[in-house]
Amino acid sequence: RKAAIITAPFSGGQPKGGVELGPEYILNAGFEKQISSLGWETEVKHPLQHTTFESMKSNEKDKYGVKNSKIVSECCKIIHDTVKESLSNEQLPITIGGDHSIGTATVSAALEHNEDTCVLWIDAHADINTPLTTESGNLHGCPISFILGIDKHSYPPDFDWVPSKLKPNKLVFIGLRDVDEGEKKILREHNVPAFSMYHIDKYGIGKVIEMALDKVNPDRKFPIHLSYDVDAIDPSFVPATGTRVEGGLSLREGLFIAEEVAQTGLLSSLDIVETNPLLAETEEHILDTVSAACAIGRCALGQTLL
Ligand code: ARG
Ligand code: MN
Ligand code: MN
Ligand code: MN
Repeated sequence: RKAAIITAPFSGGQPKGGVELGPEYILNAGFEKQISSLGWETEVKHPLQHTTFESMKSNEKDKYGVKNSKIVSECCKIIHDTVKESLSNEQLPITIGGDHSIGTATVSAALEHNEDTCVLWIDAHADINTPLTTESGNLHGCPISFILGIDKHSYPPDFDWVPSKLKPNKLVFIGLRDVDEGEKKILREHNVPAFSMYHIDKYGIGKVIEMALDKVNPDRKFPIHLSYDVDAIDPSFVPATGTRVEGGLSLREGLFIAEEVAQTGLLSSLDIVETNPLLAETEEHILDTVSAACAIGRCALGQTLL
């Protein structure tokens, strides 16, 4: 078993600085060793190391209604190629963000590698705005619409390269609690399966994961791409992230999702995004958040408690 740890130190999908430091903090916490101790042969890849995207960031919407399309698209293209190449080499790509705009890259690469791939999007947010619905103009709120190809005519031409291969019935959300009105409309129109915090309280996390997998992977035979935004977990456990929303998953619920995905034996690619060490108020906040991000990776790659 081989894994490629792909760093994506990128913040252009949202206005706050610091999320580009996520990969460095996670690696410095010993992430590679933690994964190799589980029996994985690891390789760390830094595809963005010779790029200068950060300095080009702007806070202005372009004529398409979004910010920084060019740098988000260029960074995503590079990440996409690295994820795809890793999959071809039989490595399981673990992409460490960086903001969630890179989901455009990782999911599209996973779908190109195997078009049967289903996507579990673990997040407080649905990230399914289009350039027409987004209020913030932040592209980390749009990756899902790009991958599905919703309102394709509204995208900046920079994103022409993105293959929109995902079908709405192969995507499921868990953890939602801050969904924009325009996004709710899209979720309904396209019938995307989604489990909010309400469902988790009502049925329990175990049942919710089972229902989620039944929706997108009923015979448990398709590869799974797990895209994990750390803000799905409650800010009391994961404070150092850019768009905190109260009322989230407990740390154990959050890790249980990753453990259950590991149990299926179908995990084929993983993202861990939105760790922003600069938004911590204390040293402990950084430690909690980085530890949670590492634990998500370990659980998804097979760590068990006993
Ligand atoms: N829905 C909001 C927006 O589009 C928030 C998105 C937050 N996304 C994230 N990946 N944390 O701006
Ligand atoms: Mn393969
Ligand atoms: Mn989020
Ligand atoms: Mn997200």
